Amino acid sequence: QPKTPPPLSAKDPSSFAYPTMKDRIPVILSKIVDHLTRNKLHITKEYGGEAAREELKAVIGAISELRHDVMTNKPAKPLRDSRHDAPLWNAQLEKQLNLKREEDEMHRTEQVKGEGLRWFDDAWLWMECYLYRRVQEAFLMCTLLKDFDVFAQQKQDAFKNAFQSTSHLTMYLQEVINRFKEQVPEAEVKEYFVEFLQVSLWGNKCDLSISAGQVQSHDHNPVIHLKVLKHKLLIDESDAVYQILRKVFDTKGKPAQVDIVLDNAGFELVTDLCLAEFLITSGLASQIVFHAKSIPWFVSDVTLADWDWTLNTMSRMNHIAISELCERWRAYLEANTWTVELHDFWTMPNSYNEMHKVSPDLYACLSQSDLILFKGDLNYRKLVSDRQWDTTTKFESALRGFHPAPLCSLRTLKCDCVVGLRSGQVQEAEEEDENWMINGDWAIISTCEHRET
Ligand code: F6P
Ligand code: MG
Repeated sequence: QPKTPPPLSAKDPSSFAYPTMKDRIPVILSKIVDHLTRNKLHITKEYGGEAAREELKAVIGAISELRHDVMTNKPAKPLRDSRHDAPLWNAQLEKQLNLKREEDEMHRTEQVKGEGLRWFDDAWLWMECYLYRRVQEAFLMCTLLKDFDVFAQQKQDAFKNAFQSTSHLTMYLQEVINRFKEQVPEAEVKEYFVEFLQVSLWGNKCDLSISAGQVQSHDHNPVIHLKVLKHKLLIDESDAVYQILRKVFDTKGKPAQVDIVLDNAGFELVTDLCLAEFLITSGLASQIVFHAKSIPWFVSDVTLADWDWTLNTMSRMNHIAISELCERWRAYLEANTWTVELHDFWTMPNSYNEMHKVSPDLYACLSQSDLILFKGDLNYRKLVSDRQWDTTTKFESALRGFHPAPLCSLRTLKCDCVVGLRSGQVQEAEEEDENWMINGDWAIISTCEHRET
């Protein structure tokens, strides 16, 4: 087994962690302040007048202070709100601090700056998750605004801007559903599967934290577009994913349970719903478990409120394919063929190899699955512990024992951490696009069927 390399951190100016901390995060926080300031009147009216105005002022103050703390590399403070996950966060903060103290003692460093986990010195993954939890703290300290999702508007705009692509994709899916009214040859089933899997993968290009909230419009036909994107798929294990599902049927005598660990709302969620529909229509799966976030997260991640908003909005749309599909989806939800689950672990800073210790209940629940699809960049970072892996490390090894069930990561690359490449691939990609690791234009489908032995 390869030695575990150190985590990505903003202390390395050549890592994407550095511009993230230095530029991208301050911009995201400024945008929060701008949004709240611009919509002050509206929010105040909707959330209860004068008292809400005072709370809004406090939130704006807290976010501005957080921005200042990041920019001046202040130490992370314990959380002050009373959400049930706060003690767990604070215990983890303490644990990280103790580890750091031990390290500092060994290397006799950090004495000048004083104690603390700092934005530009410590693990990027930890600090960035903590940042989004701190944003939440600002709202949780309120009474009237405690459930306010400051990213909701952006997520809804992203959905609306993708209308054309949504229209193309849902009409295509309707055709496929009709096709399945008759027996479809195996080779064709597989072809459709790969299409919907890859559309769901590329749906991950649309994430609002990478574009600092800049909503991009999507009007192309995502299925036809797959051909254009093909050579940017650095690892394509679609075939292996299909075989996993096929095998389930052969060994268990029934279709699979597929878990989808969701990433972003907007068009990405539409692509995930379409993939889930195809899995049911084709009989490859009989049960889909979606996993969403329990608090607003990394700007665009799907919360339960986003899930509801998306389905409600789609069912009211004046578009036959969209509204008919929505009806099917409601029926699946009613029959528990589809379920949506929340778990606080998804909004903790831990990498997934720690799941069995931190959240054994979630690990046990995922172990029921026949295939877990992890969507997006952040899930990938957590799968491989966000470390400075050599790019030719095996995906199985980088998972460091995390294997509740066969799993697959569908991810466009938005950070400088990737494994499973063949040697020479880095140079090839670099020649074509110097930002291949971080601009979301390149992607991987990496699978792990069996735990590494
Ligand atoms: O900012 C850090 C980061 O993980 C990026 O690498 C990525 O842009 C974003 O957050 C999350 O992306 P995704 O929505 O694909 O998980
Ligand atoms: Mg996301």
